[in-house]
Amino acid sequence: MIKRDFLSITDLSAKEIWQVLIWAKKLKIELKTKGKNKPQLIDKQMVMLFEKPSLRTKLSFDIAISQLGGHAVYFGPKEVGLGKRESIADVSKVISSMADLIVARVFSHQDLESLSQNSRVPVINALSDIEHPCQVLADLMTIWEIKRKLKSLTLTYIGDGENNVSHSLSLGCALLGINFKCAAPDGFWMNKDIVNKARQLALNSGAQILETDNPKEAVKGTDVVYTDTWLSMGDTDRNKRLKIFQPFQVNQSLMILAKKDAIFMHDLPAYRGNEVSAEVIDGPQSVVFRQAENRLHVQKALLIWIFEGLTERISNVKLGGDSISICKKE
Ligand code: NVA
Repeated sequence: MIKRDFLSITDLSAKEIWQVLIWAKKLKIELKTKGKNKPQLIDKQMVMLFEKPSLRTKLSFDIAISQLGGHAVYFGPKEVGLGKRESIADVSKVISSMADLIVARVFSHQDLESLSQNSRVPVINALSDIEHPCQVLADLMTIWEIKRKLKSLTLTYIGDGENNVSHSLSLGCALLGINFKCAAPDGFWMNKDIVNKARQLALNSGAQILETDNPKEAVKGTDVVYTDTWLSMGDTDRNKRLKIFQPFQVNQSLMILAKKDAIFMHDLPAYRGNEVSAEVIDGPQSVVFRQAENRLHVQKALLIWIFEGLTERISNVKLGGDSISICKKE
């Protein structure tokens, strides 16, 4: 079988993303109704190599592989010394001689690519400076569950545009036909290559990709308002950022401009009083904990896709999602 990495959300086609989402929903229903999943990945050994802290990603991958019958080995930020204590190539060769999969959280996206180039087993991006594709699978699942479709919705991301989550969101939206708007202050725009790639993908799906510095304009008529921390792991210019981003806080006076039934999303950890007010993140429009829980379900589907492929399991997925009947309102 060919080795399939998941370094970018674009490593999945639109159809494959739908397959992962549908499979994740099946696994979620199975877990909630039967209390467990069928062990489909017995004896699979997954190595987690994390250069940065993690709650949701570590938790969901660890529980996901264990509920599917496999096993996880975790290396925290102080352990391996990727590229310092030991070269990336050596680390990768050693792990892939014993394990079946590498899940890595790194400072530099290039390190993921080096890991992959030197590995005989697949590599999953558990967050880099450029992308956070696993998060975006959970986000898409959450939007689909609530809105019952994805195509033609509009998602507005507010705040730090030069951000792993905004990047993966823009690409995921572009693939699936969701209009994507990013409102960010000057100097904190999204990576140009990512925007170009998103615009290219959007030509196929019909999505619109827009960048602006006006948060109020950006949220008008939107279905989803999304924000992330103003200070990602590895960012150093704290005081400058806290000042510049003030007008980009998602609060009630901003939410009121979105659609009446708009939802609020955040990948967490959140800093109440900075990028989002407490009344919004803890209010009725917020779906942040459902997003967090869905990390578990999409990660399982992703692991099955990596190890076994989903193509033969689910056929005739109709892109757009409106016709998919397994997604019941909870
Ligand atoms: N943009 C954030 C995401 C945390 C899950 C960071 O990189 O720290």
